[in-house]
Amino acid sequence: MTDESMDARRERNAARIREAIRRQPPMPALCGEVARHIREPAADFGMLAEEMRLDPGVTMNVLKLANSAYFGSSGRVDSLRHAFVRLGARRLFQLVVAQGVASRMATRLAGYGLEPGALLRHSLCVAMTAEALTRTRKLGFEETIFTAGLLHDMGKPVMDVFVSEAGPEAQARLRDEPVCSEAAEADLFGISHAEAGALLMTEWGFPADLAEIVRAHHRIAATKLYGLPARMVRLADGYAASRGFGGGQEAAIRDSLAEDEAALGVAPADFEKLTEGIPEKVAELEAVLAPE
Ligand SMILES: [Fe+2]
Ligand SMILES: [Fe+2]
Repeated sequence: MTDESMDARRERNAARIREAIRRQPPMPALCGEVARHIREPAADFGMLAEEMRLDPGVTMNVLKLANSAYFGSSGRVDSLRHAFVRLGARRLFQLVVAQGVASRMATRLAGYGLEPGALLRHSLCVAMTAEALTRTRKLGFEETIFTAGLLHDMGKPVMDVFVSEAGPEAQARLRDEPVCSEAAEADLFGISHAEAGALLMTEWGFPADLAEIVRAHHRIAATKLYGLPARMVRLADGYAASRGFGGGQEAAIRDSLAEDEAALGVAPADFEKLTEGIPEKVAELEAVLAPE
């Protein structure tokens, strides 16, 4: 293929991917409402809880998550209002986002070679691991990191149809590229899964810091303000893969693991301790979010 036709193909693909992002189904209404309560803490939650009875499926799952081993605190949470008071708006936002993206993450992503459920398990593991790494340090982004970890590869469900269509040679390149498969995606499609994920976060009206961490999760240098949380997500990505919770493209992650451990001063032994019990908690949340 000539340089010119490759450029034209890249541009065409990027335009189609941007269009696919605009056409993604929206998040549940509850998501926007809880986000509003983060911005305006004084707003009354009672009315909202009433309205949400109209969407019992979402509400039921959010309450199951609120009572799970990972999110639960002492005592049972039996209404959205109760969850809001007990967990706070930011924690509730995490639960609602998880519920909103779960079915898209749980499907088979043939282009990326991910079986049903694999991306959801990977993303939950990254979210919990990144949060565990952050909690010990009081860095000021404890409330954001779980959602950033959960959504870091959200560009993959959007891109998968294009990766599938590109054929086995392109897929092998994405899987095995030794440095960073993100560059291979950009070369083939004009846009990487990290960029696609960030654009989707913006499309959904999510906080700007989330989009920026997602955008930078393979290329820390892509962000000036959020290098630290992006690195935590990338380190959690590597640990999740090493524990059998891979999200595809492991070659790229392996390359950055040692660098991120050194930069954050984390040793594998600390990590073992920090993340004890996470596989069981991933299984518990998966059973709620994507029952077989
Ligand atoms: Fe990624
Ligand atoms: Fe990942």
